[in-house]
Amino acid sequence: MTPDRKGETVLEVRDLHTHFFLRRGVVKAVDGVSFSLRRGEVLGLVGESGCGKSLTALSLMRLLPKGGAQTIKGEVLLDGENILERTPAEMRQIRGRRISMVLQDPQTSLNPVFTIGDQLREAIVRRKRAPHAEIMKEAVAALRRVEIAAPEQRIGQYPHQMSGGMKQRVVGAIAISGEPGVLIADEPTTALDVTIQLQYLKLLKRLQAETGMAILFITHDFGVVGRMCDRVAVMYAGRIVECGPVRQIFEAPQHPYTRALIASVPKMTGPVGRLTTIEGQPPSLMDLPVGCRFASRCAHVEQRCLDAYPGTVRVGEEHTADCWKVMPA
Ligand SMILES: Nc1ncnc2c1ncn2[C@@H]1O[C@H](COP(=O)(O)OP(=O)(O)O)[C@@H](O)[C@H]1O
Ligand SMILES: [Mg+2]
Repeated sequence: MTPDRKGETVLEVRDLHTHFFLRRGVVKAVDGVSFSLRRGEVLGLVGESGCGKSLTALSLMRLLPKGGAQTIKGEVLLDGENILERTPAEMRQIRGRRISMVLQDPQTSLNPVFTIGDQLREAIVRRKRAPHAEIMKEAVAALRRVEIAAPEQRIGQYPHQMSGGMKQRVVGAIAISGEPGVLIADEPTTALDVTIQLQYLKLLKRLQAETGMAILFITHDFGVVGRMCDRVAVMYAGRIVECGPVRQIFEAPQHPYTRALIASVPKMTGPVGRLTTIEGQPPSLMDLPVGCRFASRCAHVEQRCLDAYPGTVRVGEEHTADCWKVMPA
């Protein structure tokens, strides 16, 4: 990446809606999500389990689960091009090269009956033709890049011969082998134990610095956000309710939901914290209220919060919140 391109918008998501159309109703899993991602930055997407983080990611990849999920509205501009309008064949060219994803569980991304080398090679030949020896050299280099020791030996092994952390590194190597401009990491460390988690996060940071790729880092763990991200988007019941630079979000969170999340993290530099439970339940995505979605759990609720959705308020430079009670900048 040329340095002058750093900071350019690489991905812009506008008013994205992905719903599940089920016999018993419509689940509005992603219901009006907008955000942008710049070259060379890490944007955290954080929120409780079930709020629509993974469905947002899968919508961007155009890899929706079977069984009624459909993106019905919105735009996903990758380098200015709306990839929601691309054909499945065109998407196969885009995935891996321009936008790539690491899932939570490496088990689901790796095929148990093929060696690590086979799977890396498959990812490499999908985008270039070269003699076998050259492809294998590239595969070994890819493993070395994700800090796998003795890659020449590892390349002949099967997934079951590796630890969870190592498998997730292999998944990472495959995901970035096409040098994508955007990497989506959906809770990439949740299945790993704590020390291995930290190593993996460090690795991601280093790869990000080296390649200049932008990362959408999905987590339910606010403790990790301070460590990893430049900016953070807080998601609640299918929408982003607050977005801004990490420092501002930690020091002056505006949305009551964000404040509740932050209150559960001891210190920005403290130990990795989990979201403590906030009293009450998020609304059913099948039966969303007309007003603010957090209203039923909010200590500051007023009539207007129940009557209408607040809309997105600019509360600072680059900082927005969807709340009736915040002060516009
Ligand atoms: N296969 C499915 N069928 C119906 N609804 C689903 C399915 N998968 C997810 N959902 C709904 O979409 C919502 C968002 O899911 P998801 O994006 O996986 O949440 P997150 O990643 O934030 O934990 C869930 O709360 C659930 O109601
Ligand atoms: Mg998820």
